Amino acid sequence: MKILHGPFTQILPLTGLPLKGALQDDQLQIILQGGILTENGLIIAVDSFEKLRGENPSAQIKETQGQQVLLPGFVDCHTHICFAGSRAKDYAMRIQGKTYLEIARSGGGIWDSVTQTRAADEALLTQLLIKRAERHLAEGVTTIEVKSGYGLSVEQELKQLRAIKVAATQINVSLVATCLAAHMVPKDFNGSQTEYLQYILTDLLPIIKKENLANRVDIFIEENAFNGDNALVYLNKAKQFGFDITVHADQFTTSGSHVAVNVGAVSADHLEASGDAEIKLLAGSNTVAVTLPGASLGLGMPYAPARKLLDAGACLAIASDWNPGSAPMGDLLMQAAIMSAAEKLNTAEVFAGLTFRAAKALNLTDRGILAAGMRADMQAYPCTDYREILYQQGKLKPVIID
Ligand code: NIG
Ligand code: FE
Repeated sequence: MKILHGPFTQILPLTGLPLKGALQDDQLQIILQGGILTENGLIIAVDSFEKLRGENPSAQIKETQGQQVLLPGFVDCHTHICFAGSRAKDYAMRIQGKTYLEIARSGGGIWDSVTQTRAADEALLTQLLIKRAERHLAEGVTTIEVKSGYGLSVEQELKQLRAIKVAATQINVSLVATCLAAHMVPKDFNGSQTEYLQYILTDLLPIIKKENLANRVDIFIEENAFNGDNALVYLNKAKQFGFDITVHADQFTTSGSHVAVNVGAVSADHLEASGDAEIKLLAGSNTVAVTLPGASLGLGMPYAPARKLLDAGACLAIASDWNPGSAPMGDLLMQAAIMSAAEKLNTAEVFAGLTFRAAKALNLTDRGILAAGMRADMQAYPCTDYREILYQQGKLKPVIID
């Protein structure tokens, strides 16, 4: 059954834009009084509503209520929303000026979320994840990457990944799972960093493959997590297994982006500490640079050099990093809008970073633009001009069109 949606005041299909580098707003194609013809969840055509109606007299019409601007659904390519509990105590200490070390010594940090997540059963984790994913959907995010990384043992990582798989069957949001068993060496692991990574490689990754729980592997490369040399060995082996690679890179120090490019990672995420050498390296690679403004806001730290990355020619995506510690807010559009004012990213660059460039970070080729053959995955904002969307800094909420 063909469905014709519209008429939309403006449709921004985000087609015809380059995958990498800076953009200008006048490169945005805008279809006035547009329509979208869909069938079985796929887009058949994007054009003038009246033209499509004339050509498809038997299509069912889903008429737009009021003025609406249509965009592809947002892709949040980096989250940690499969967790239990809260780290409000950490946050209160952080805004009192306590250091990372002081917070960790008082029982906070990633390990606290590991403890709280281990105490939850799979059903509770699934329920918590669904609630967060539904909130994201109401804010226009139709695809969400979700990392494990609060289990940190074979059994507990599997519990998280299974919760993601079950949640995905129960909601109208696409979930993309990533194994982040290499988030930190768990405090109860009896061995070195390399022994822990070896344990993940031999005891966990084969089960993940067998049960088809994830096709992506992530690692946190940082002084308090994993060093670049160990990470490179681990990631190359994971890649040989057939996993796509992504890296928590350059959040505080800069070896992660070098490892990411070296291993051919699909993305290098964070990049707050990246300098000119790292910017050049990422811009010359096929690795998507993912900026996480929610972590900068949560930690009270500078943003990644988004403007410089685009000007150097990188493919820049914007994600929320929604997690219980460093990025508790989880409002992707609000974060992107706030960062764009500070970093001077224009609307075309922000929309690209939230859609087709973010889809590229997840190796997904069926979404992120509105064009024939793509998924009918779209959201409409109640306004007459696309510039209202960033202007209202996340307070304008979309309607999901399906
Ligand atoms: O992406 N940087 C490492 N991991 C997360 C934080 C996770 C946490 O604090 O629980 C991040 O910011
Ligand atoms: Fe993260």
